Amino acid sequence: METKQWTVNEIDEAAQVLKEGGLVAFPTETVYGLGANARMSDSVCRVFDVKGRPNDNPLIVHVSSFEQVKDYVDTLHPYAQKLVDTYWPGPLTLVCKVKEGIFAKEVSAGLPTVSFRMPDNEVTLSLLKKAGVPAVGPSANTSGKPSPTTFEHVYHDLQEDIEGILDDGPTKIGVESTVIDISDPEQVPMILRPGAITKEQIKQDLGIEVTYDKHLLEVSETPKSPGMKYKHYAPDTKVLMVKEQDWPAAVKWAKENQLSAGVLAGPIVCDKIRADTAATFAYKDDSIAAATKGLYAGLRALDEAQLPLDVILAAAFPEKDLGVAYMNRLKKAAAQKYFEG
Ligand code: TXA
Ligand code: MG
Repeated sequence: METKQWTVNEIDEAAQVLKEGGLVAFPTETVYGLGANARMSDSVCRVFDVKGRPNDNPLIVHVSSFEQVKDYVDTLHPYAQKLVDTYWPGPLTLVCKVKEGIFAKEVSAGLPTVSFRMPDNEVTLSLLKKAGVPAVGPSANTSGKPSPTTFEHVYHDLQEDIEGILDDGPTKIGVESTVIDISDPEQVPMILRPGAITKEQIKQDLGIEVTYDKHLLEVSETPKSPGMKYKHYAPDTKVLMVKEQDWPAAVKWAKENQLSAGVLAGPIVCDKIRADTAATFAYKDDSIAAATKGLYAGLRALDEAQLPLDVILAAAFPEKDLGVAYMNRLKKAAAQKYFEG
């Protein structure tokens, strides 16, 4: 099958294909998603197939309004409306208890809950409205690889397996949404996957103290969100995280061991060590926002560097605010390993 590249002027065609059961990758503010009609079992199964996704890992249902979600859910959490008013459309996914039989059963992978998200992207909101159906939307990458933040990344992984990709340029945030469990109205909301909406921000905006799933604080704990247990976001090349003060030692180590090293860091670090390493991918600036936006693109670019690399050295950031989400993904790509000077 030839995968089509749809421009923003071709949303109608993409919506028709999505509605009728085709697989349509769409842009969001976080990463590109692999869309399929959430009510059609065959289409949802194809999503698992083309991604090579384990079938115990549930999918997020993408909607164009909160009103839709209200139709699907039995009892809403007392904070649901507040969270939606503050963060939707945006990178916050809500795990809710749903009525039976609304979505294809594969969507929830055997769990009694379904997660919902309204993405902050005009093109995709229009796609969803025009299609008139809720759409599953896992990240549009081969399972285990870094999530796609451009049309080209999706095309690289899924060309010939899906009907088309709606192209809206690079995504703004760069890592997947915050997943928060509000399925039990009696319990405090719990973050299952960190993203751009942070624990600190929710506290600041709403005065609500949410918790973290234990596995986010202690790696030995089993995650509540099935997807978080898999090795994820990993390029083929080995990745080592480097703390700010360790860059000179890390570069020296690579040189002494005649390793071809790629560097993924902000411009300050890259400018200093470019001459001593095989390849660099500099984030746009030295902020954590730029690092988060560039992380997956950088891992993919270095993984495909012309000269094959022995190791990717990637900048570690402090684990606060957006740094929690960035480090959550980078640690998985690096199998938790830091360069030890
Ligand atoms: O930003 C995003 O969320 C992107 C864009 C495309 O919207 N989508 C995305 O989907 O990251 P995916 O499928 O790659 O990740 C969904 C995560 C997985 O870790 C999955 O286990 C978890 O959400 N999840 C989905 N439904 C769940 C549920 N009912 N209970 C617990 N975790 C759930
Ligand atoms: Mg994913």
